[in-house]
Amino acid sequence: MTGGAGYIGSHVVRTLQSAGHEVVIVDDLSTGDARRVPGVPLVPLDLAEAASREPLAQAMHEHGVTSVIHLAARKQVGESVERPLWYCGQNVGGLAHVLGAMERASVGSIVYSSSAAVYGSVSEDLVAEDAALEPLSPYGRTKLAGEWLLRDAARAHGVRGVALRYFNVAGAGAPELGDTVVANLVTIVLDRITRGLRPQVYGTDYPTDDGSCIRDYVHVVDLAEAHVATLDHLAAGGPVGEALNVGRGTGVSVLEVLAVLGEVCGLDTTPEVVARRVGDPARVVAAVDRIAQDVRWSARADLRAILESAWAAWQSGPPAI
Ligand code: WQD
Repeated sequence: MTGGAGYIGSHVVRTLQSAGHEVVIVDDLSTGDARRVPGVPLVPLDLAEAASREPLAQAMHEHGVTSVIHLAARKQVGESVERPLWYCGQNVGGLAHVLGAMERASVGSIVYSSSAAVYGSVSEDLVAEDAALEPLSPYGRTKLAGEWLLRDAARAHGVRGVALRYFNVAGAGAPELGDTVVANLVTIVLDRITRGLRPQVYGTDYPTDDGSCIRDYVHVVDLAEAHVATLDHLAAGGPVGEALNVGRGTGVSVLEVLAVLGEVCGLDTTPEVVARRVGDPARVVAAVDRIAQDVRWSARADLRAILESAWAAWQSGPPAI
């Protein structure tokens, strides 16, 4: 699997191993950390380089790879606005090289990480996979282009692929696997409150019950299990070429996250209301019936469990050397 030393990837690695799969990781360790995955074979390759295709195909061959889970990608929305060409090379180019290596090594199936960012401004209460795809950022567009590429490769080369559209991933499966990057709501708030700062809410004038934005937060362990279930479904000859939402199907507002986080941490999370962040849709919540039906997966952990695990991991800090 690619990106296996990252926050989400390392959870997928553990879940695959507990399900009895053998795993080999490909990661350039630019944002990943090998200490998350001790003892797992790791091939250091920068997949955005066309030159990675040959050694990747060779590694697939040597390790007897039968399926790929492709997570390695850049995922900072703001950065993608600054560097759209680089994002395209990293995310779309990276996928193209992985698909090329798979073709060369005759590896037939792939689970690809996509994102709810492919939808853009959602008007439905629950967004289903066949909703309009109008990503608001270059990041979201690279993920959508990847979905298209996957489908085209399926037609041309017969590769069997499924795209998983992640909603808002948070939490940790073990204290040492926590998200150490301060870039999303939960980690931004944990960072602020443990430094004695008040959390910030980006606007409370949205057309929602409490005025703050609503999202669908899913536990990273549930997300990891969705990958294994999808892999099993591909191996069992299940329908391919689809995109599946991975969320809980439950909307939670920013103010609700702060309230529960305050209870869990025992710290004051009374927020400071600041201006809206550009490009934030009011509500993005997944319709989750397709993945439940096709892959027989649904999320188990609720918001409190997600936040409790995030807090436990935050307190333990980054992995020790
Ligand atoms: C969640 C909510 C903010 C910080 C993005 C990408 C998406 C995916 C996940 C990668 C929003 C609000 C946040 C803060 C706040 N990324 N907020 N105060 O924007 O839903 O999704 O990250 O795959 O593709 O678009 O996630 O965690 O940034 O924000 O009020 O200090 O929290 O406005 O409503 P988002 P987020």
